[in-house]
Amino acid sequence: MKTIENNTITKENIGQTLELYGWVQKKRDLGGVIFIDLRDRSGIIQLTIRPENKAYEIASRLKNEYVIKVIGTVQKREKVNPNIKTGEIEIDIQELEIINTSIETPFEIKDDTNALEDTRLKYRYLDLRRQSLKDKIITRAKITRCIRNFLDTEGFIDIETPVLCRSTPEGARDYLVPSRINKGNFYALPQSPQILKQLLMVSGFEKYYQIAKCFRDEDLRADRQPEFTQVDVELSFVDEFDVMNVIEKLIAKVFKEMKQVEIKLPLKRMKYNDAIKNYGSDKPDLRYEMPIQEITSIFNNTSIEFLKKVIEEKGIINALVLKNKADKYSRKEIDKLTDFVKTYKATGLAYIKVEDTLSGSIVKNLNEEEISTLKSQLNLEKNDIVFIISGVYNIVKTSLGALRCKLAKDNQMINNKEYQMLFITDFPVFEYSEQENRYVACHHPFTAPKDEDIDKLLTDKANCYAKAYDIVINGYEAGGGSIRIHNQDTQKMMFEALGFTDEEAKEKFGFLMEAFKYGTPPHGGFALGLDRLTMLLTETDNIRDVIAFPKTASASCLLTEAPNVVSEKQLEELGLQLKEEKKNEN
Ligand code: AMO
Repeated sequence: MKTIENNTITKENIGQTLELYGWVQKKRDLGGVIFIDLRDRSGIIQLTIRPENKAYEIASRLKNEYVIKVIGTVQKREKVNPNIKTGEIEIDIQELEIINTSIETPFEIKDDTNALEDTRLKYRYLDLRRQSLKDKIITRAKITRCIRNFLDTEGFIDIETPVLCRSTPEGARDYLVPSRINKGNFYALPQSPQILKQLLMVSGFEKYYQIAKCFRDEDLRADRQPEFTQVDVELSFVDEFDVMNVIEKLIAKVFKEMKQVEIKLPLKRMKYNDAIKNYGSDKPDLRYEMPIQEITSIFNNTSIEFLKKVIEEKGIINALVLKNKADKYSRKEIDKLTDFVKTYKATGLAYIKVEDTLSGSIVKNLNEEEISTLKSQLNLEKNDIVFIISGVYNIVKTSLGALRCKLAKDNQMINNKEYQMLFITDFPVFEYSEQENRYVACHHPFTAPKDEDIDKLLTDKANCYAKAYDIVINGYEAGGGSIRIHNQDTQKMMFEALGFTDEEAKEKFGFLMEAFKYGTPPHGGFALGLDRLTMLLTETDNIRDVIAFPKTASASCLLTEAPNVVSEKQLEELGLQLKEEKKNEN
């Protein structure tokens, strides 16, 4: 058995004879002496072999990615390589055995690869040989262990819940699995173990956790996968402050252990409405300031037609000030930003540059008073540039929020080594769905409203707030949760508010409502996105980097070619038949 990892060998081992195993990363023949970079999962160590050695002939046959065993003596290296951990030493080989050969790999196994991601995903097992990727997967395992240790120590019980579940409405689209035994019926893969963890509270477990696989058939983004992992937690006899305490202690422990970063607790808390008002997002990145500024009242008597109209229509005018960068923004650059904010439904982007005088799209129509109030209210200094969007509240906030992130990124205002985390609290209970023309649950239908808002559930949906919280780290929603409704009457009212008839609620959530009749403790919980947490801790913005076998943006696995066509016989067993056009597409 292999007992030594390359990276554990140090100067202390000089003179010792060791047995090492691994892959040939690279071979160099420098005028007689052959140098081999031996790679194992921990890193690289240099092997040397001289012509007089009986293994020299074998060494000369080595190619990249051959699997070898060597026995050799640790010695000091003549020329130190500062780029690798074992750079001060090397192994003088006495014996060399080729355990297995390798054909030429479709791309070179090295960290700074320029191979296409599709090629790397097709040969994921080779891509995972690259140290930078392997390290991320190893870090993920360490994070998981750290989380388990914390939760075990705090008295949480690890309980598995089924993957073949019942489809329940709300949330994202389900992945469905047809049942062979009950033809015409389907299981759904869990979007999260939400209902089951609540049932475990009814059962009296009091503190539950699970590292749970979740499945959501939704549009994918750089931080979204169709199957992902949650650290899922539920507790009984708690309020939202108790739960937030557990989350922040857990996060602080993980950051301390993985990054040696001391997180100051308690974390900052910001109400949802304030986050939207000041940052245009419910996941504000606070590594940079640049808040959205309210300037509507400055234009109360404006002569600018489009702004006049916005004010008449009870819209708002807001601004972002980018300090000391006006000279970086040409007309062309600003046109690009205008196109960018239009993708967030903004009607346009006005700007003011502070040079010796003010210049920009709306300046010639500003009067003296407007100019001086703008200057003082926004603290304008030479070379600042102001971006202004006007219109409907939500659109102005969202588009300026997105522009804020883009400007910070484009201008390298983000320190990647810094972590800024906070809780967003007081989410609305409902959000209006233009698509469905009705109010839907902002979180899920089991989220408890604030006590003072229970009476408003049926009468004033726009002003109901929830005992819900998200934890946001560097602009990522790393997790979220809520206190749940444990009172049957409130739950009934919630279903009614969401437009379910008694019959529908019974049909969809009957088993949960039935369970709640048997002495349900007050309870609440949260789920952290393990993939996103790992992204943050390994400093990548691509979720595929932290998942051993991820899916592409079109939800397929290039390695195994899933999803795939199944045989007529399999379909028949399930009582399924494909529509003609689907058959042809395949
Ligand atoms: P929520 O839907 O907010 O809450 O999910 C919790 C966390 O899971 C992560 N996440 C994802 N990560 C990768 N890919 C995805 N497609 C994806 N979707 C979500 C996010 C998110 O914050 N049952 C509730 C939790 C609770 O109330 O206890 C839930 O699932 O980091």
